[in-house]
Order: sequence, then C-alpha cells, then structure tokens
Amino acid sequence: MAFDPMEERGVPLERQLRNWSELNVTPYDTQAVHPYTRTRAILMNGIEVESIMNSHQTARHVTDVGLKQKLALVRRIEQQQQKAVNWLIPGEESNIAVTIGYEQVAVDLTAWVARNEPDPYLKQVYDFGLLEDFDHLYRYANLMDLMGESRKAAEITGELTEIIPGRPTIFEHRHPHDDLRRPMTKVGADRQSVLNGLTLVAAEQQTMNYYMNVGNRPTDPLARALYLEIAQIEEQHVSHYESILDPTLSWMANWVLREFHECWLYWSCMVEEVDPKVRQLWELHLNMEIEHLKTAWEMMKVIDRRDPRELLPDTRLVTPMVFEPNKAYLRQLVAKEVDLTAYDSEFVPITALPEEHRYFAYQAQVNAGGSPTEMVIDRHREAFGEDYRSETEGPHPVGALRERDRQGVLDYAQATQ
Ligand SMILES: [Fe+2]
Ligand SMILES: [Fe+2]
Ligand SMILES: [Fe+2]
Ligand SMILES: [Fe+2]
Repeated sequence: MAFDPMEERGVPLERQLRNWSELNVTPYDTQAVHPYTRTRAILMNGIEVESIMNSHQTARHVTDVGLKQKLALVRRIEQQQQKAVNWLIPGEESNIAVTIGYEQVAVDLTAWVARNEPDPYLKQVYDFGLLEDFDHLYRYANLMDLMGESRKAAEITGELTEIIPGRPTIFEHRHPHDDLRRPMTKVGADRQSVLNGLTLVAAEQQTMNYYMNVGNRPTDPLARALYLEIAQIEEQHVSHYESILDPTLSWMANWVLREFHECWLYWSCMVEEVDPKVRQLWELHLNMEIEHLKTAWEMMKVIDRRDPRELLPDTRLVTPMVFEPNKAYLRQLVAKEVDLTAYDSEFVPITALPEEHRYFAYQAQVNAGGSPTEMVIDRHREAFGEDYRSETEGPHPVGALRERDRQGVLDYAQATQ
C-alpha cells in the first residue's frame, strides 16, 4: 500500500482556505471516542504547531521577499489546519482528561517509534524518554482521581495503555547538560530515523506548551505543583529530542522535511482512523500537504540551488505510524531500565555516577522541600488507602514498585537510598 505524495495531485494552494464555520468542526463525543482517535488529534495538533513555528522561525531568518510570501501563504493554511484539528477536542473534556490523552500519546507514540527505529543509539534515546512519560501518565491519573472527576483515567485510555509507575519522576530531574544527545546526520541517517526524530520533537514540544499554559488552571496547590514539575521534564524532553536532529540542515531543507513529515503522518492517520468523519479530515489535510510539499520542494531548488532528491531520494510512504497497545514492550523496558539516568549523551544506571556528579547537586536543589509527583501519590494513599493504577497485565514487573499502599513507598525509599 505504498503512497507517493510527489506523484499525487493535491488541493491547489489557492483553494485551501476555509471559512470560519468549516474550521469550527463538530468535536468528537468524549464518551464514545476511540482513545486512539483522541491521540491522533492530539498528535496532529502538535505537528501543525511545529510546522507553524518552524515557518515563523524561517521567515525571521531569510531576506527574499518571494520566499517570505510563500512561507506566509502556506503558514496561514497550517494555522487553519491546526484549528480544524485541535477543535476536534470537545469542551466537555476537562484539562486533566486531555492531559491523560497527552501522556497516552507520549507512551504509545514513543513506543512505536522505538520499535521502528533502525539506529541502536536513537532507539536508546526513545526508550529512555518513554519510561519517563509512562510515569507521568501514572502521576496525572492519581491527580485526576483526587480532583473528583466523574471518570477514571482508564476510561480515557480505554485500558489500551497500562497506568503504572515508570521511572519515578522525582529521579528524572537532571542537570541541563545531561539532556543533550548526539545528532544524526542527513547523510548517515535512515529516512525513518529522520521522520521519527521530527515526530517526537513536535509531540514533546506540544506537551511542553500545553502544560506551560494549562498547568496554572487548577485551584488546588498540589495540582498546580504537579503540572509545573512535569512541565519542567517536558522541556528536558524537547532538549533531549531536538538534539538528535541534524543541526546542519538549511532552512529550506527543514521546510521540505516538515512538509514530507506532515504527509507521512496524515497518511498514517487516514489509513488507521476508525471514525469516518475524522478520517475525512485526515484525508483533506493530506491532500493539502501534498501541495505544501511541492511548494517547499520548488523553493528549495530556487533558494538553495539544490535538488531535494539529495534529502529524499525516495518519497514513497510505505510504513504508517500506528497507535496500538505496547503493554509487553513497556513491561520489559521498565524492568530493564527503571534505574537509568543520563551522563552527557550516554545512558547509565544512577549507581554508576561518581558521587560528586552534577546530577546529585541538581536533584538536591529542585527536590528540596519534596517532589509534588511523590506527594500526589501520598495524598491518594491517604484518601483511598492505595494509589490509582490500571494494571491489566498483573503486578508491577519491578518488585520495589509493586506495593500500592504506604508501606510500599517506605520500602521503595529505603531500597533506593
Ligand atoms: Fe499542515
Ligand atoms: Fe510526559
Ligand atoms: Fe515527555
Ligand atoms: Fe504543511
């Protein structure tokens, strides 16, 4: 089922503008929506935001008026696409329910990417970030329960994703120098690696922005604290993922890659979507992206005097990105890598760090006074006798994270001292 956007005719640019009522799409039904339709909407919103911000950044760094006009034209369309996609989320869905959706995206998207990454170092990069977002899902699920929402987090995830502790968030706080990875190069990298990297940068950046904005909406100080602690980790994740991208690409090459990336993901959404109305939106946007790609392609030839075929010798789309359960993958990963941290661009067990490592000074500074991601679990245990989990495949694979009551926490604290 290969699909080549460069061989297709899309919607001509001049016919891509929509009026306000066309953009104000009917949102999905929060009770009936398939959890992976929600995750596709969250993901594609983040992809549009990245394409918009990249276009703004490009416009600020070029002088050619003709190029600025082309960027402005396509960017206006991307803004409209962002509205149509993000307005799929209904007003009835609370910020904390949407937050559960965001972390479900991070878990099942990153797991798919890790399983489909040909480069062993980059696979480690994804596995490392994956266990951290896996833990965020658990912390927010406990908060959701405490907020008195009518639904449990597992009703949002549809039990397609387990909700159990990952790498405990309290240990994720690292010195900024330890969030920088080794970049791939356009000559050395597999094309799937480039698409994977762009995907995670956009998704994590959107999560960072979302928590930056909605994290101050709760009234409960612990809820506000939880959002801000996890929001800081999402910045770490953006730094972590953006540092794997090739930093030597031209502005035009980056534009071409982003349009190609949008084609890949809308095509993926289209072939996987179960909701026929939402599927129509993915198909329409794919047809728009085909013309964006051709526009960027032509501009790269004119401005860089280079053939984009150097970047993309083959523009056929073959493997769609798929949202699907990754329960067994996550269980073996958490058992193997729960105690990892980073030292420069490498991943090592915390116990392998020298005693005077900057990790410990950073930890002591930010965790002085306690960590809200731990407090939320304590408070849930006080209120309900145990933490909130959605363990569909049995007890936690890590012994120290198995106990759900207060004694379990004390045992874990002792074991990690
Ligand atoms: Fe777009
Ligand atoms: Fe996260
Ligand atoms: Fe993240
Ligand atoms: Fe686009």
